[in-house]
Amino acid sequence: AIANIGVVGLAAMGSNLARNLARHGNTVALYNRHYDRTEKLMSEHGNDGKFIPSKTIQEFVASLAKPRTAIIMVKAGAATDAVIEELADAMEPGDIIVDGGNSYFMDTIRREKDIRARGLHYVGCGVSGGEEGALNGPSLMPGGTEESWKTLGPILKSIAAVAEGEPCVTHIGENGAGHFVKMVHNGIEYSDMQLIAESYDLMRRGLGMSPVEIGDMFEEWNKTELNSYLIEITSEVLHQVDKKTGKPLVDVIVDQAGMKGTGTWTVQTALSLGVPVTGIAEAVFSRGLSGQEAQRAEADKVGLAGPDTAMNLSAEERKAFIEDIRHALYASKIVAYAQGFDEINAGAKEYGWKIDQAAVARIWRGGCIIRAQFLNVVSDAFESGQADVSLLLAPYFKEAIEQAEESWRRVVAQASLKGLPVPAFASSLSYYDGLRSKRLPAALIQGQRDLFGAHTYGRVDAPGAFHTLWAEPGRPEIEA
Ligand code: 6PG
Repeated sequence: AIANIGVVGLAAMGSNLARNLARHGNTVALYNRHYDRTEKLMSEHGNDGKFIPSKTIQEFVASLAKPRTAIIMVKAGAATDAVIEELADAMEPGDIIVDGGNSYFMDTIRREKDIRARGLHYVGCGVSGGEEGALNGPSLMPGGTEESWKTLGPILKSIAAVAEGEPCVTHIGENGAGHFVKMVHNGIEYSDMQLIAESYDLMRRGLGMSPVEIGDMFEEWNKTELNSYLIEITSEVLHQVDKKTGKPLVDVIVDQAGMKGTGTWTVQTALSLGVPVTGIAEAVFSRGLSGQEAQRAEADKVGLAGPDTAMNLSAEERKAFIEDIRHALYASKIVAYAQGFDEINAGAKEYGWKIDQAAVARIWRGGCIIRAQFLNVVSDAFESGQADVSLLLAPYFKEAIEQAEESWRRVVAQASLKGLPVPAFASSLSYYDGLRSKRLPAALIQGQRDLFGAHTYGRVDAPGAFHTLWAEPGRPEIEA
């Protein structure tokens, strides 16, 4: 038998992807470094469809039809490099190597260049949706050549999630474009999660609500414009009771958020591109702060000054404040997406990709972790050209923020007065206020830079660079 697609690396993500492929009529070649994993997949799920298991990479390559197409699902970094090398040695010009891991897009650019020089295609493909998505329909973000997309496109379309009748996959752009967009997806995922966490904290410590009450609230919010996978699972997490202690599970979990690096890359990349992704950055920093175990323990011991976090509101005021939080969450979410898309735009310019932002928003509507109803209106805004300058300037979102604005300010102000940390809410609001300010204090910073370093400044009334002969501190002014 001859396979039209192969999967290398059969851990959870790889084997689920292989099963998804087989269930959709593909004949799937299988290879894993340790054969017992391959055997396990065959014995447990061999009936899902047509599989061709191999013990060696050479056997695996020989079982593929030309152009041979293989998806690598191994750990990002050195493990990926090793498998690429083995595959490239065994394959022939015209064949396609796909990396479905969370690889750093600069690695993908480098690998694509190397592999292309050997006459093969190399596709970095973002895969989102976790293990469940890999099995039942992920959102897929492939980069690489147009030519590789001709072979790969139909295969990926056969397994992608479907949103509004369309498969959640599109050719993002050349070389590392797919992994770049997946990276920003993860950054946005971080900010969505942080905003939800801040909302929870305000209700928990500010309003004194129980996890179950808050979970019920998220369930209600999921019926509004906030409808999304992350809101849905938040409600599930908050309803979960710990079997061992009978306590809400959330109270038994150590309050230190882990991360594997994609959020950090999103921020590092944004910094080097000069794009302010404040929402995502605060989300990454917040995870960082949560992990500062020693400092937090010491601060707790010393007892740093701050107000009591309980807001002591009447039932009616409480209801109103919960609505304020919901509005603040929505407004901050819009800001985070605007910033994420700005980064995609800047990346496209820097690396020479033609990325269709509307198409990106469309393939994020299903399958991926940030899937949300809201992405329908985001894609419409890009489609119509109304978000060309910024998502925040598209009429739909401009109006949405207008409606949320007062609530947003109340939440940030109250949180600050009650000593509740809301870094993502607050920085998103400041970003918004910065964006709408006709004049920013950056003029003063330019003056400072010119004074201490003769860095020059522009004038509002004339083109060119100017320098003032500043008086040295403590000395009389020297005339020009
Ligand atoms: C996805 C996710 C996934 C990511 C996890 C964990 O789109 O399916 O983004 O790719 O690895 O969410 O990320 P952290 O460990 O960094 O939180």
